[in-house]
Amino acid sequence: MEKNMSKLILAIESSCDETSAAVMHNGDVLSNVISSQEIHAQYGGVVPELASRAHLEMIIPVVEKAISSASVTLDDINVIGVTSEPGLLGSLLVGENFAKALGLSMNIPVYPINHLEAHIFSGFLENRDINFPFVALVVSGGHTMLVLVKDVNDYILLGTTQDDAAGEAFDKVAKILGLGYPGGPVIDKRAKQGNPKAVHFPRPLYFENTYNFSFSGMKTFALQLVRKTNGQGILEASRIPDICASFQRAVIDTLTAKTMRAAEEFSVHDVVVAGGVSANSELRATIDAECTKRGMRLTVPRLAYCTDNAAMIANLTEFKIKSGVMPPEMIVASARSTLLPFSV
Ligand code: KG4
Ligand code: ZN
Repeated sequence: MEKNMSKLILAIESSCDETSAAVMHNGDVLSNVISSQEIHAQYGGVVPELASRAHLEMIIPVVEKAISSASVTLDDINVIGVTSEPGLLGSLLVGENFAKALGLSMNIPVYPINHLEAHIFSGFLENRDINFPFVALVVSGGHTMLVLVKDVNDYILLGTTQDDAAGEAFDKVAKILGLGYPGGPVIDKRAKQGNPKAVHFPRPLYFENTYNFSFSGMKTFALQLVRKTNGQGILEASRIPDICASFQRAVIDTLTAKTMRAAEEFSVHDVVVAGGVSANSELRATIDAECTKRGMRLTVPRLAYCTDNAAMIANLTEFKIKSGVMPPEMIVASARSTLLPFSV
């Protein structure tokens, strides 16, 4: 492997319930191995203690597989990028300490990478010629953020959620409807058989002059729907598709309206939607249609780069190296995002 021209990067991601490692060279993802922890499904959400134990079990095999699938050896690696924030502290520490130890033993730098910033830049894994400035909507189980990305290291946080994240709302509504975890994919699927106009879900902050979001009212509305049906809180199965479609439409209307308003206000050509919720087929189709109407271009990374993955960590490590503004090679894991302007 020729490694003199640009750095061969090993990246590690362990902030939540995916253990992932990737190898990247000069914009090419050579491998992106993702091990998803199935154990949390039975609890209806991620159990932090179980997550960190599962990371401990998987980190070595996942890194080994990333190296071998990339057809390189560990000795070829020049730089390590690792998610240092935000996330579950115990989970972050597994990836971070592994990366630190590996970097120390190989005498190569280890750079801390912000998970949210990596989601924002994941669009470049799909489309290398996204123009700055662009608007990025990051929607995942833990975060909902609308960001104006002026350049690498130059961001304006336009809005964020005031309560639940968009993915969290999908997960909670699915739980209320008895559909299991994670809720996003199942609601996406069931909504296809339903009528999005059947039930009028509230759209908090939709008409307000703010880029902030609020989803907890939608969850409460779903809970009331279930309670109203009968004393036992069990919905007729035939109503589920309509409720899924109507809830999903309310979330999508809100996300789309604010994203398009930001794109117009800042006269951008490119819009990026990233994070686990960007896997939603209706969300992609709706924002895509709105972008096309305005002569803008939407980039949504493929599924493996939307949900948590190390390729996006490698990608941002490379951007940072090329921009010349690297974070210090000193990592302190943080459950909260300390990177401005994502320190909300
Ligand atoms: O980015 P991600 O993998 O992990 C976090 O950082 O949170 O996102 C996971 C979230 C979950 O809340 C899941 O329900 C949601 O993404 N999700 C979806 C879909 N697929 C995953 N939400 C809506 N529609 C989907 N198709
Ligand atoms: Zn994420």
